[in-house]
Amino acid sequence: MQTQGITTLALSAFASDVRAGLDRDGQKELLSKYLYDDVGSALFEVICALPEYGLTRADTRLLRRHAPDIVDLLASPVIVAELGSGSARKTRWILEALCRRQPTSYFPVEISSAALARCRQELAHLECLSIVGFAREYVDGLLEVSARRRPGERLLVLFLGSTIGNFDRAPGENFLREVRRILDPGDALLLGTDLEKSIPQQIHAYDDPLGVTAAFNLNLLARINRELEADFVLGLFRHVAIYNLAERRIEMHLRSTEDHVVTIPGAALTVRFRKGETIWTESSHKFAPGEVAAIATRTGFRCDAQWIDQEWPFAESLLIAE
Ligand code: AVJ
Repeated sequence: MQTQGITTLALSAFASDVRAGLDRDGQKELLSKYLYDDVGSALFEVICALPEYGLTRADTRLLRRHAPDIVDLLASPVIVAELGSGSARKTRWILEALCRRQPTSYFPVEISSAALARCRQELAHLECLSIVGFAREYVDGLLEVSARRRPGERLLVLFLGSTIGNFDRAPGENFLREVRRILDPGDALLLGTDLEKSIPQQIHAYDDPLGVTAAFNLNLLARINRELEADFVLGLFRHVAIYNLAERRIEMHLRSTEDHVVTIPGAALTVRFRKGETIWTESSHKFAPGEVAAIATRTGFRCDAQWIDQEWPFAESLLIAE
């Protein structure tokens, strides 16, 4: 009994979110953060290496090229928190530049503990860096980091890779306001945003011919099978990437190819799928270059500097808390 109680507790957030998203008549939905279990995080690493997905390379190029300029614009001393660090492969450029002027504390906040372990390996060569990882949700992790800062230390928050694009626009701005409330005036947020580009280019980035993004998307159903003892047949779903023009975002869905029923004991749920209906699993909003400065103003920041990649339109913006 005791053990069962603990198991139920540990699964309850995932189980109840799955239940809320699938137990409805209209558009079924699963939260995109659940794509990133250990298998999903590993598949995402492969996506970043695909020729069609230029986003991560653009982000990395900007950070590598402009890290010295970015660091020059920051007050000193500064501690660094990163929201959704993943393997932190691209973060090293900023951390190396910071380490050249001071020993630096780095606090990655990342829900995948496997990704946190990779992050530690990736940065092991930086001797002047102290790393304390938090396997937490963003706001909880950031509150922890903020509580650890010493008087006079500034905080630099990294929110890279256009993860902000996973939020709908209004909730995304609310999230930035929440981040701002944790910061002090003069603290910094380095925000990566993927910019609008041609529609075919955007669709190919999320529907690659090798099928890695499809596997990444389908893994969410496999995860529900693994963790909630469900009986999804993955062959009855197809990965789809749609560009929504009005909302300026890529949407990933999983389309059911047959009328069928799935049981999810771990969420106490039976779900009926109609042929052709979809589960919406992720949105990736795209931005116009000037949009970030406007968002900054509305959320309690000012945009002090912006760097844009010419090869794959992507922006790195340095926002300062007002
Ligand atoms: C890691 C959220 C930025 O939206 O481009 C990549 C995730 N999904 N391919 C994105 C993703 C499908 C990615 N982010």
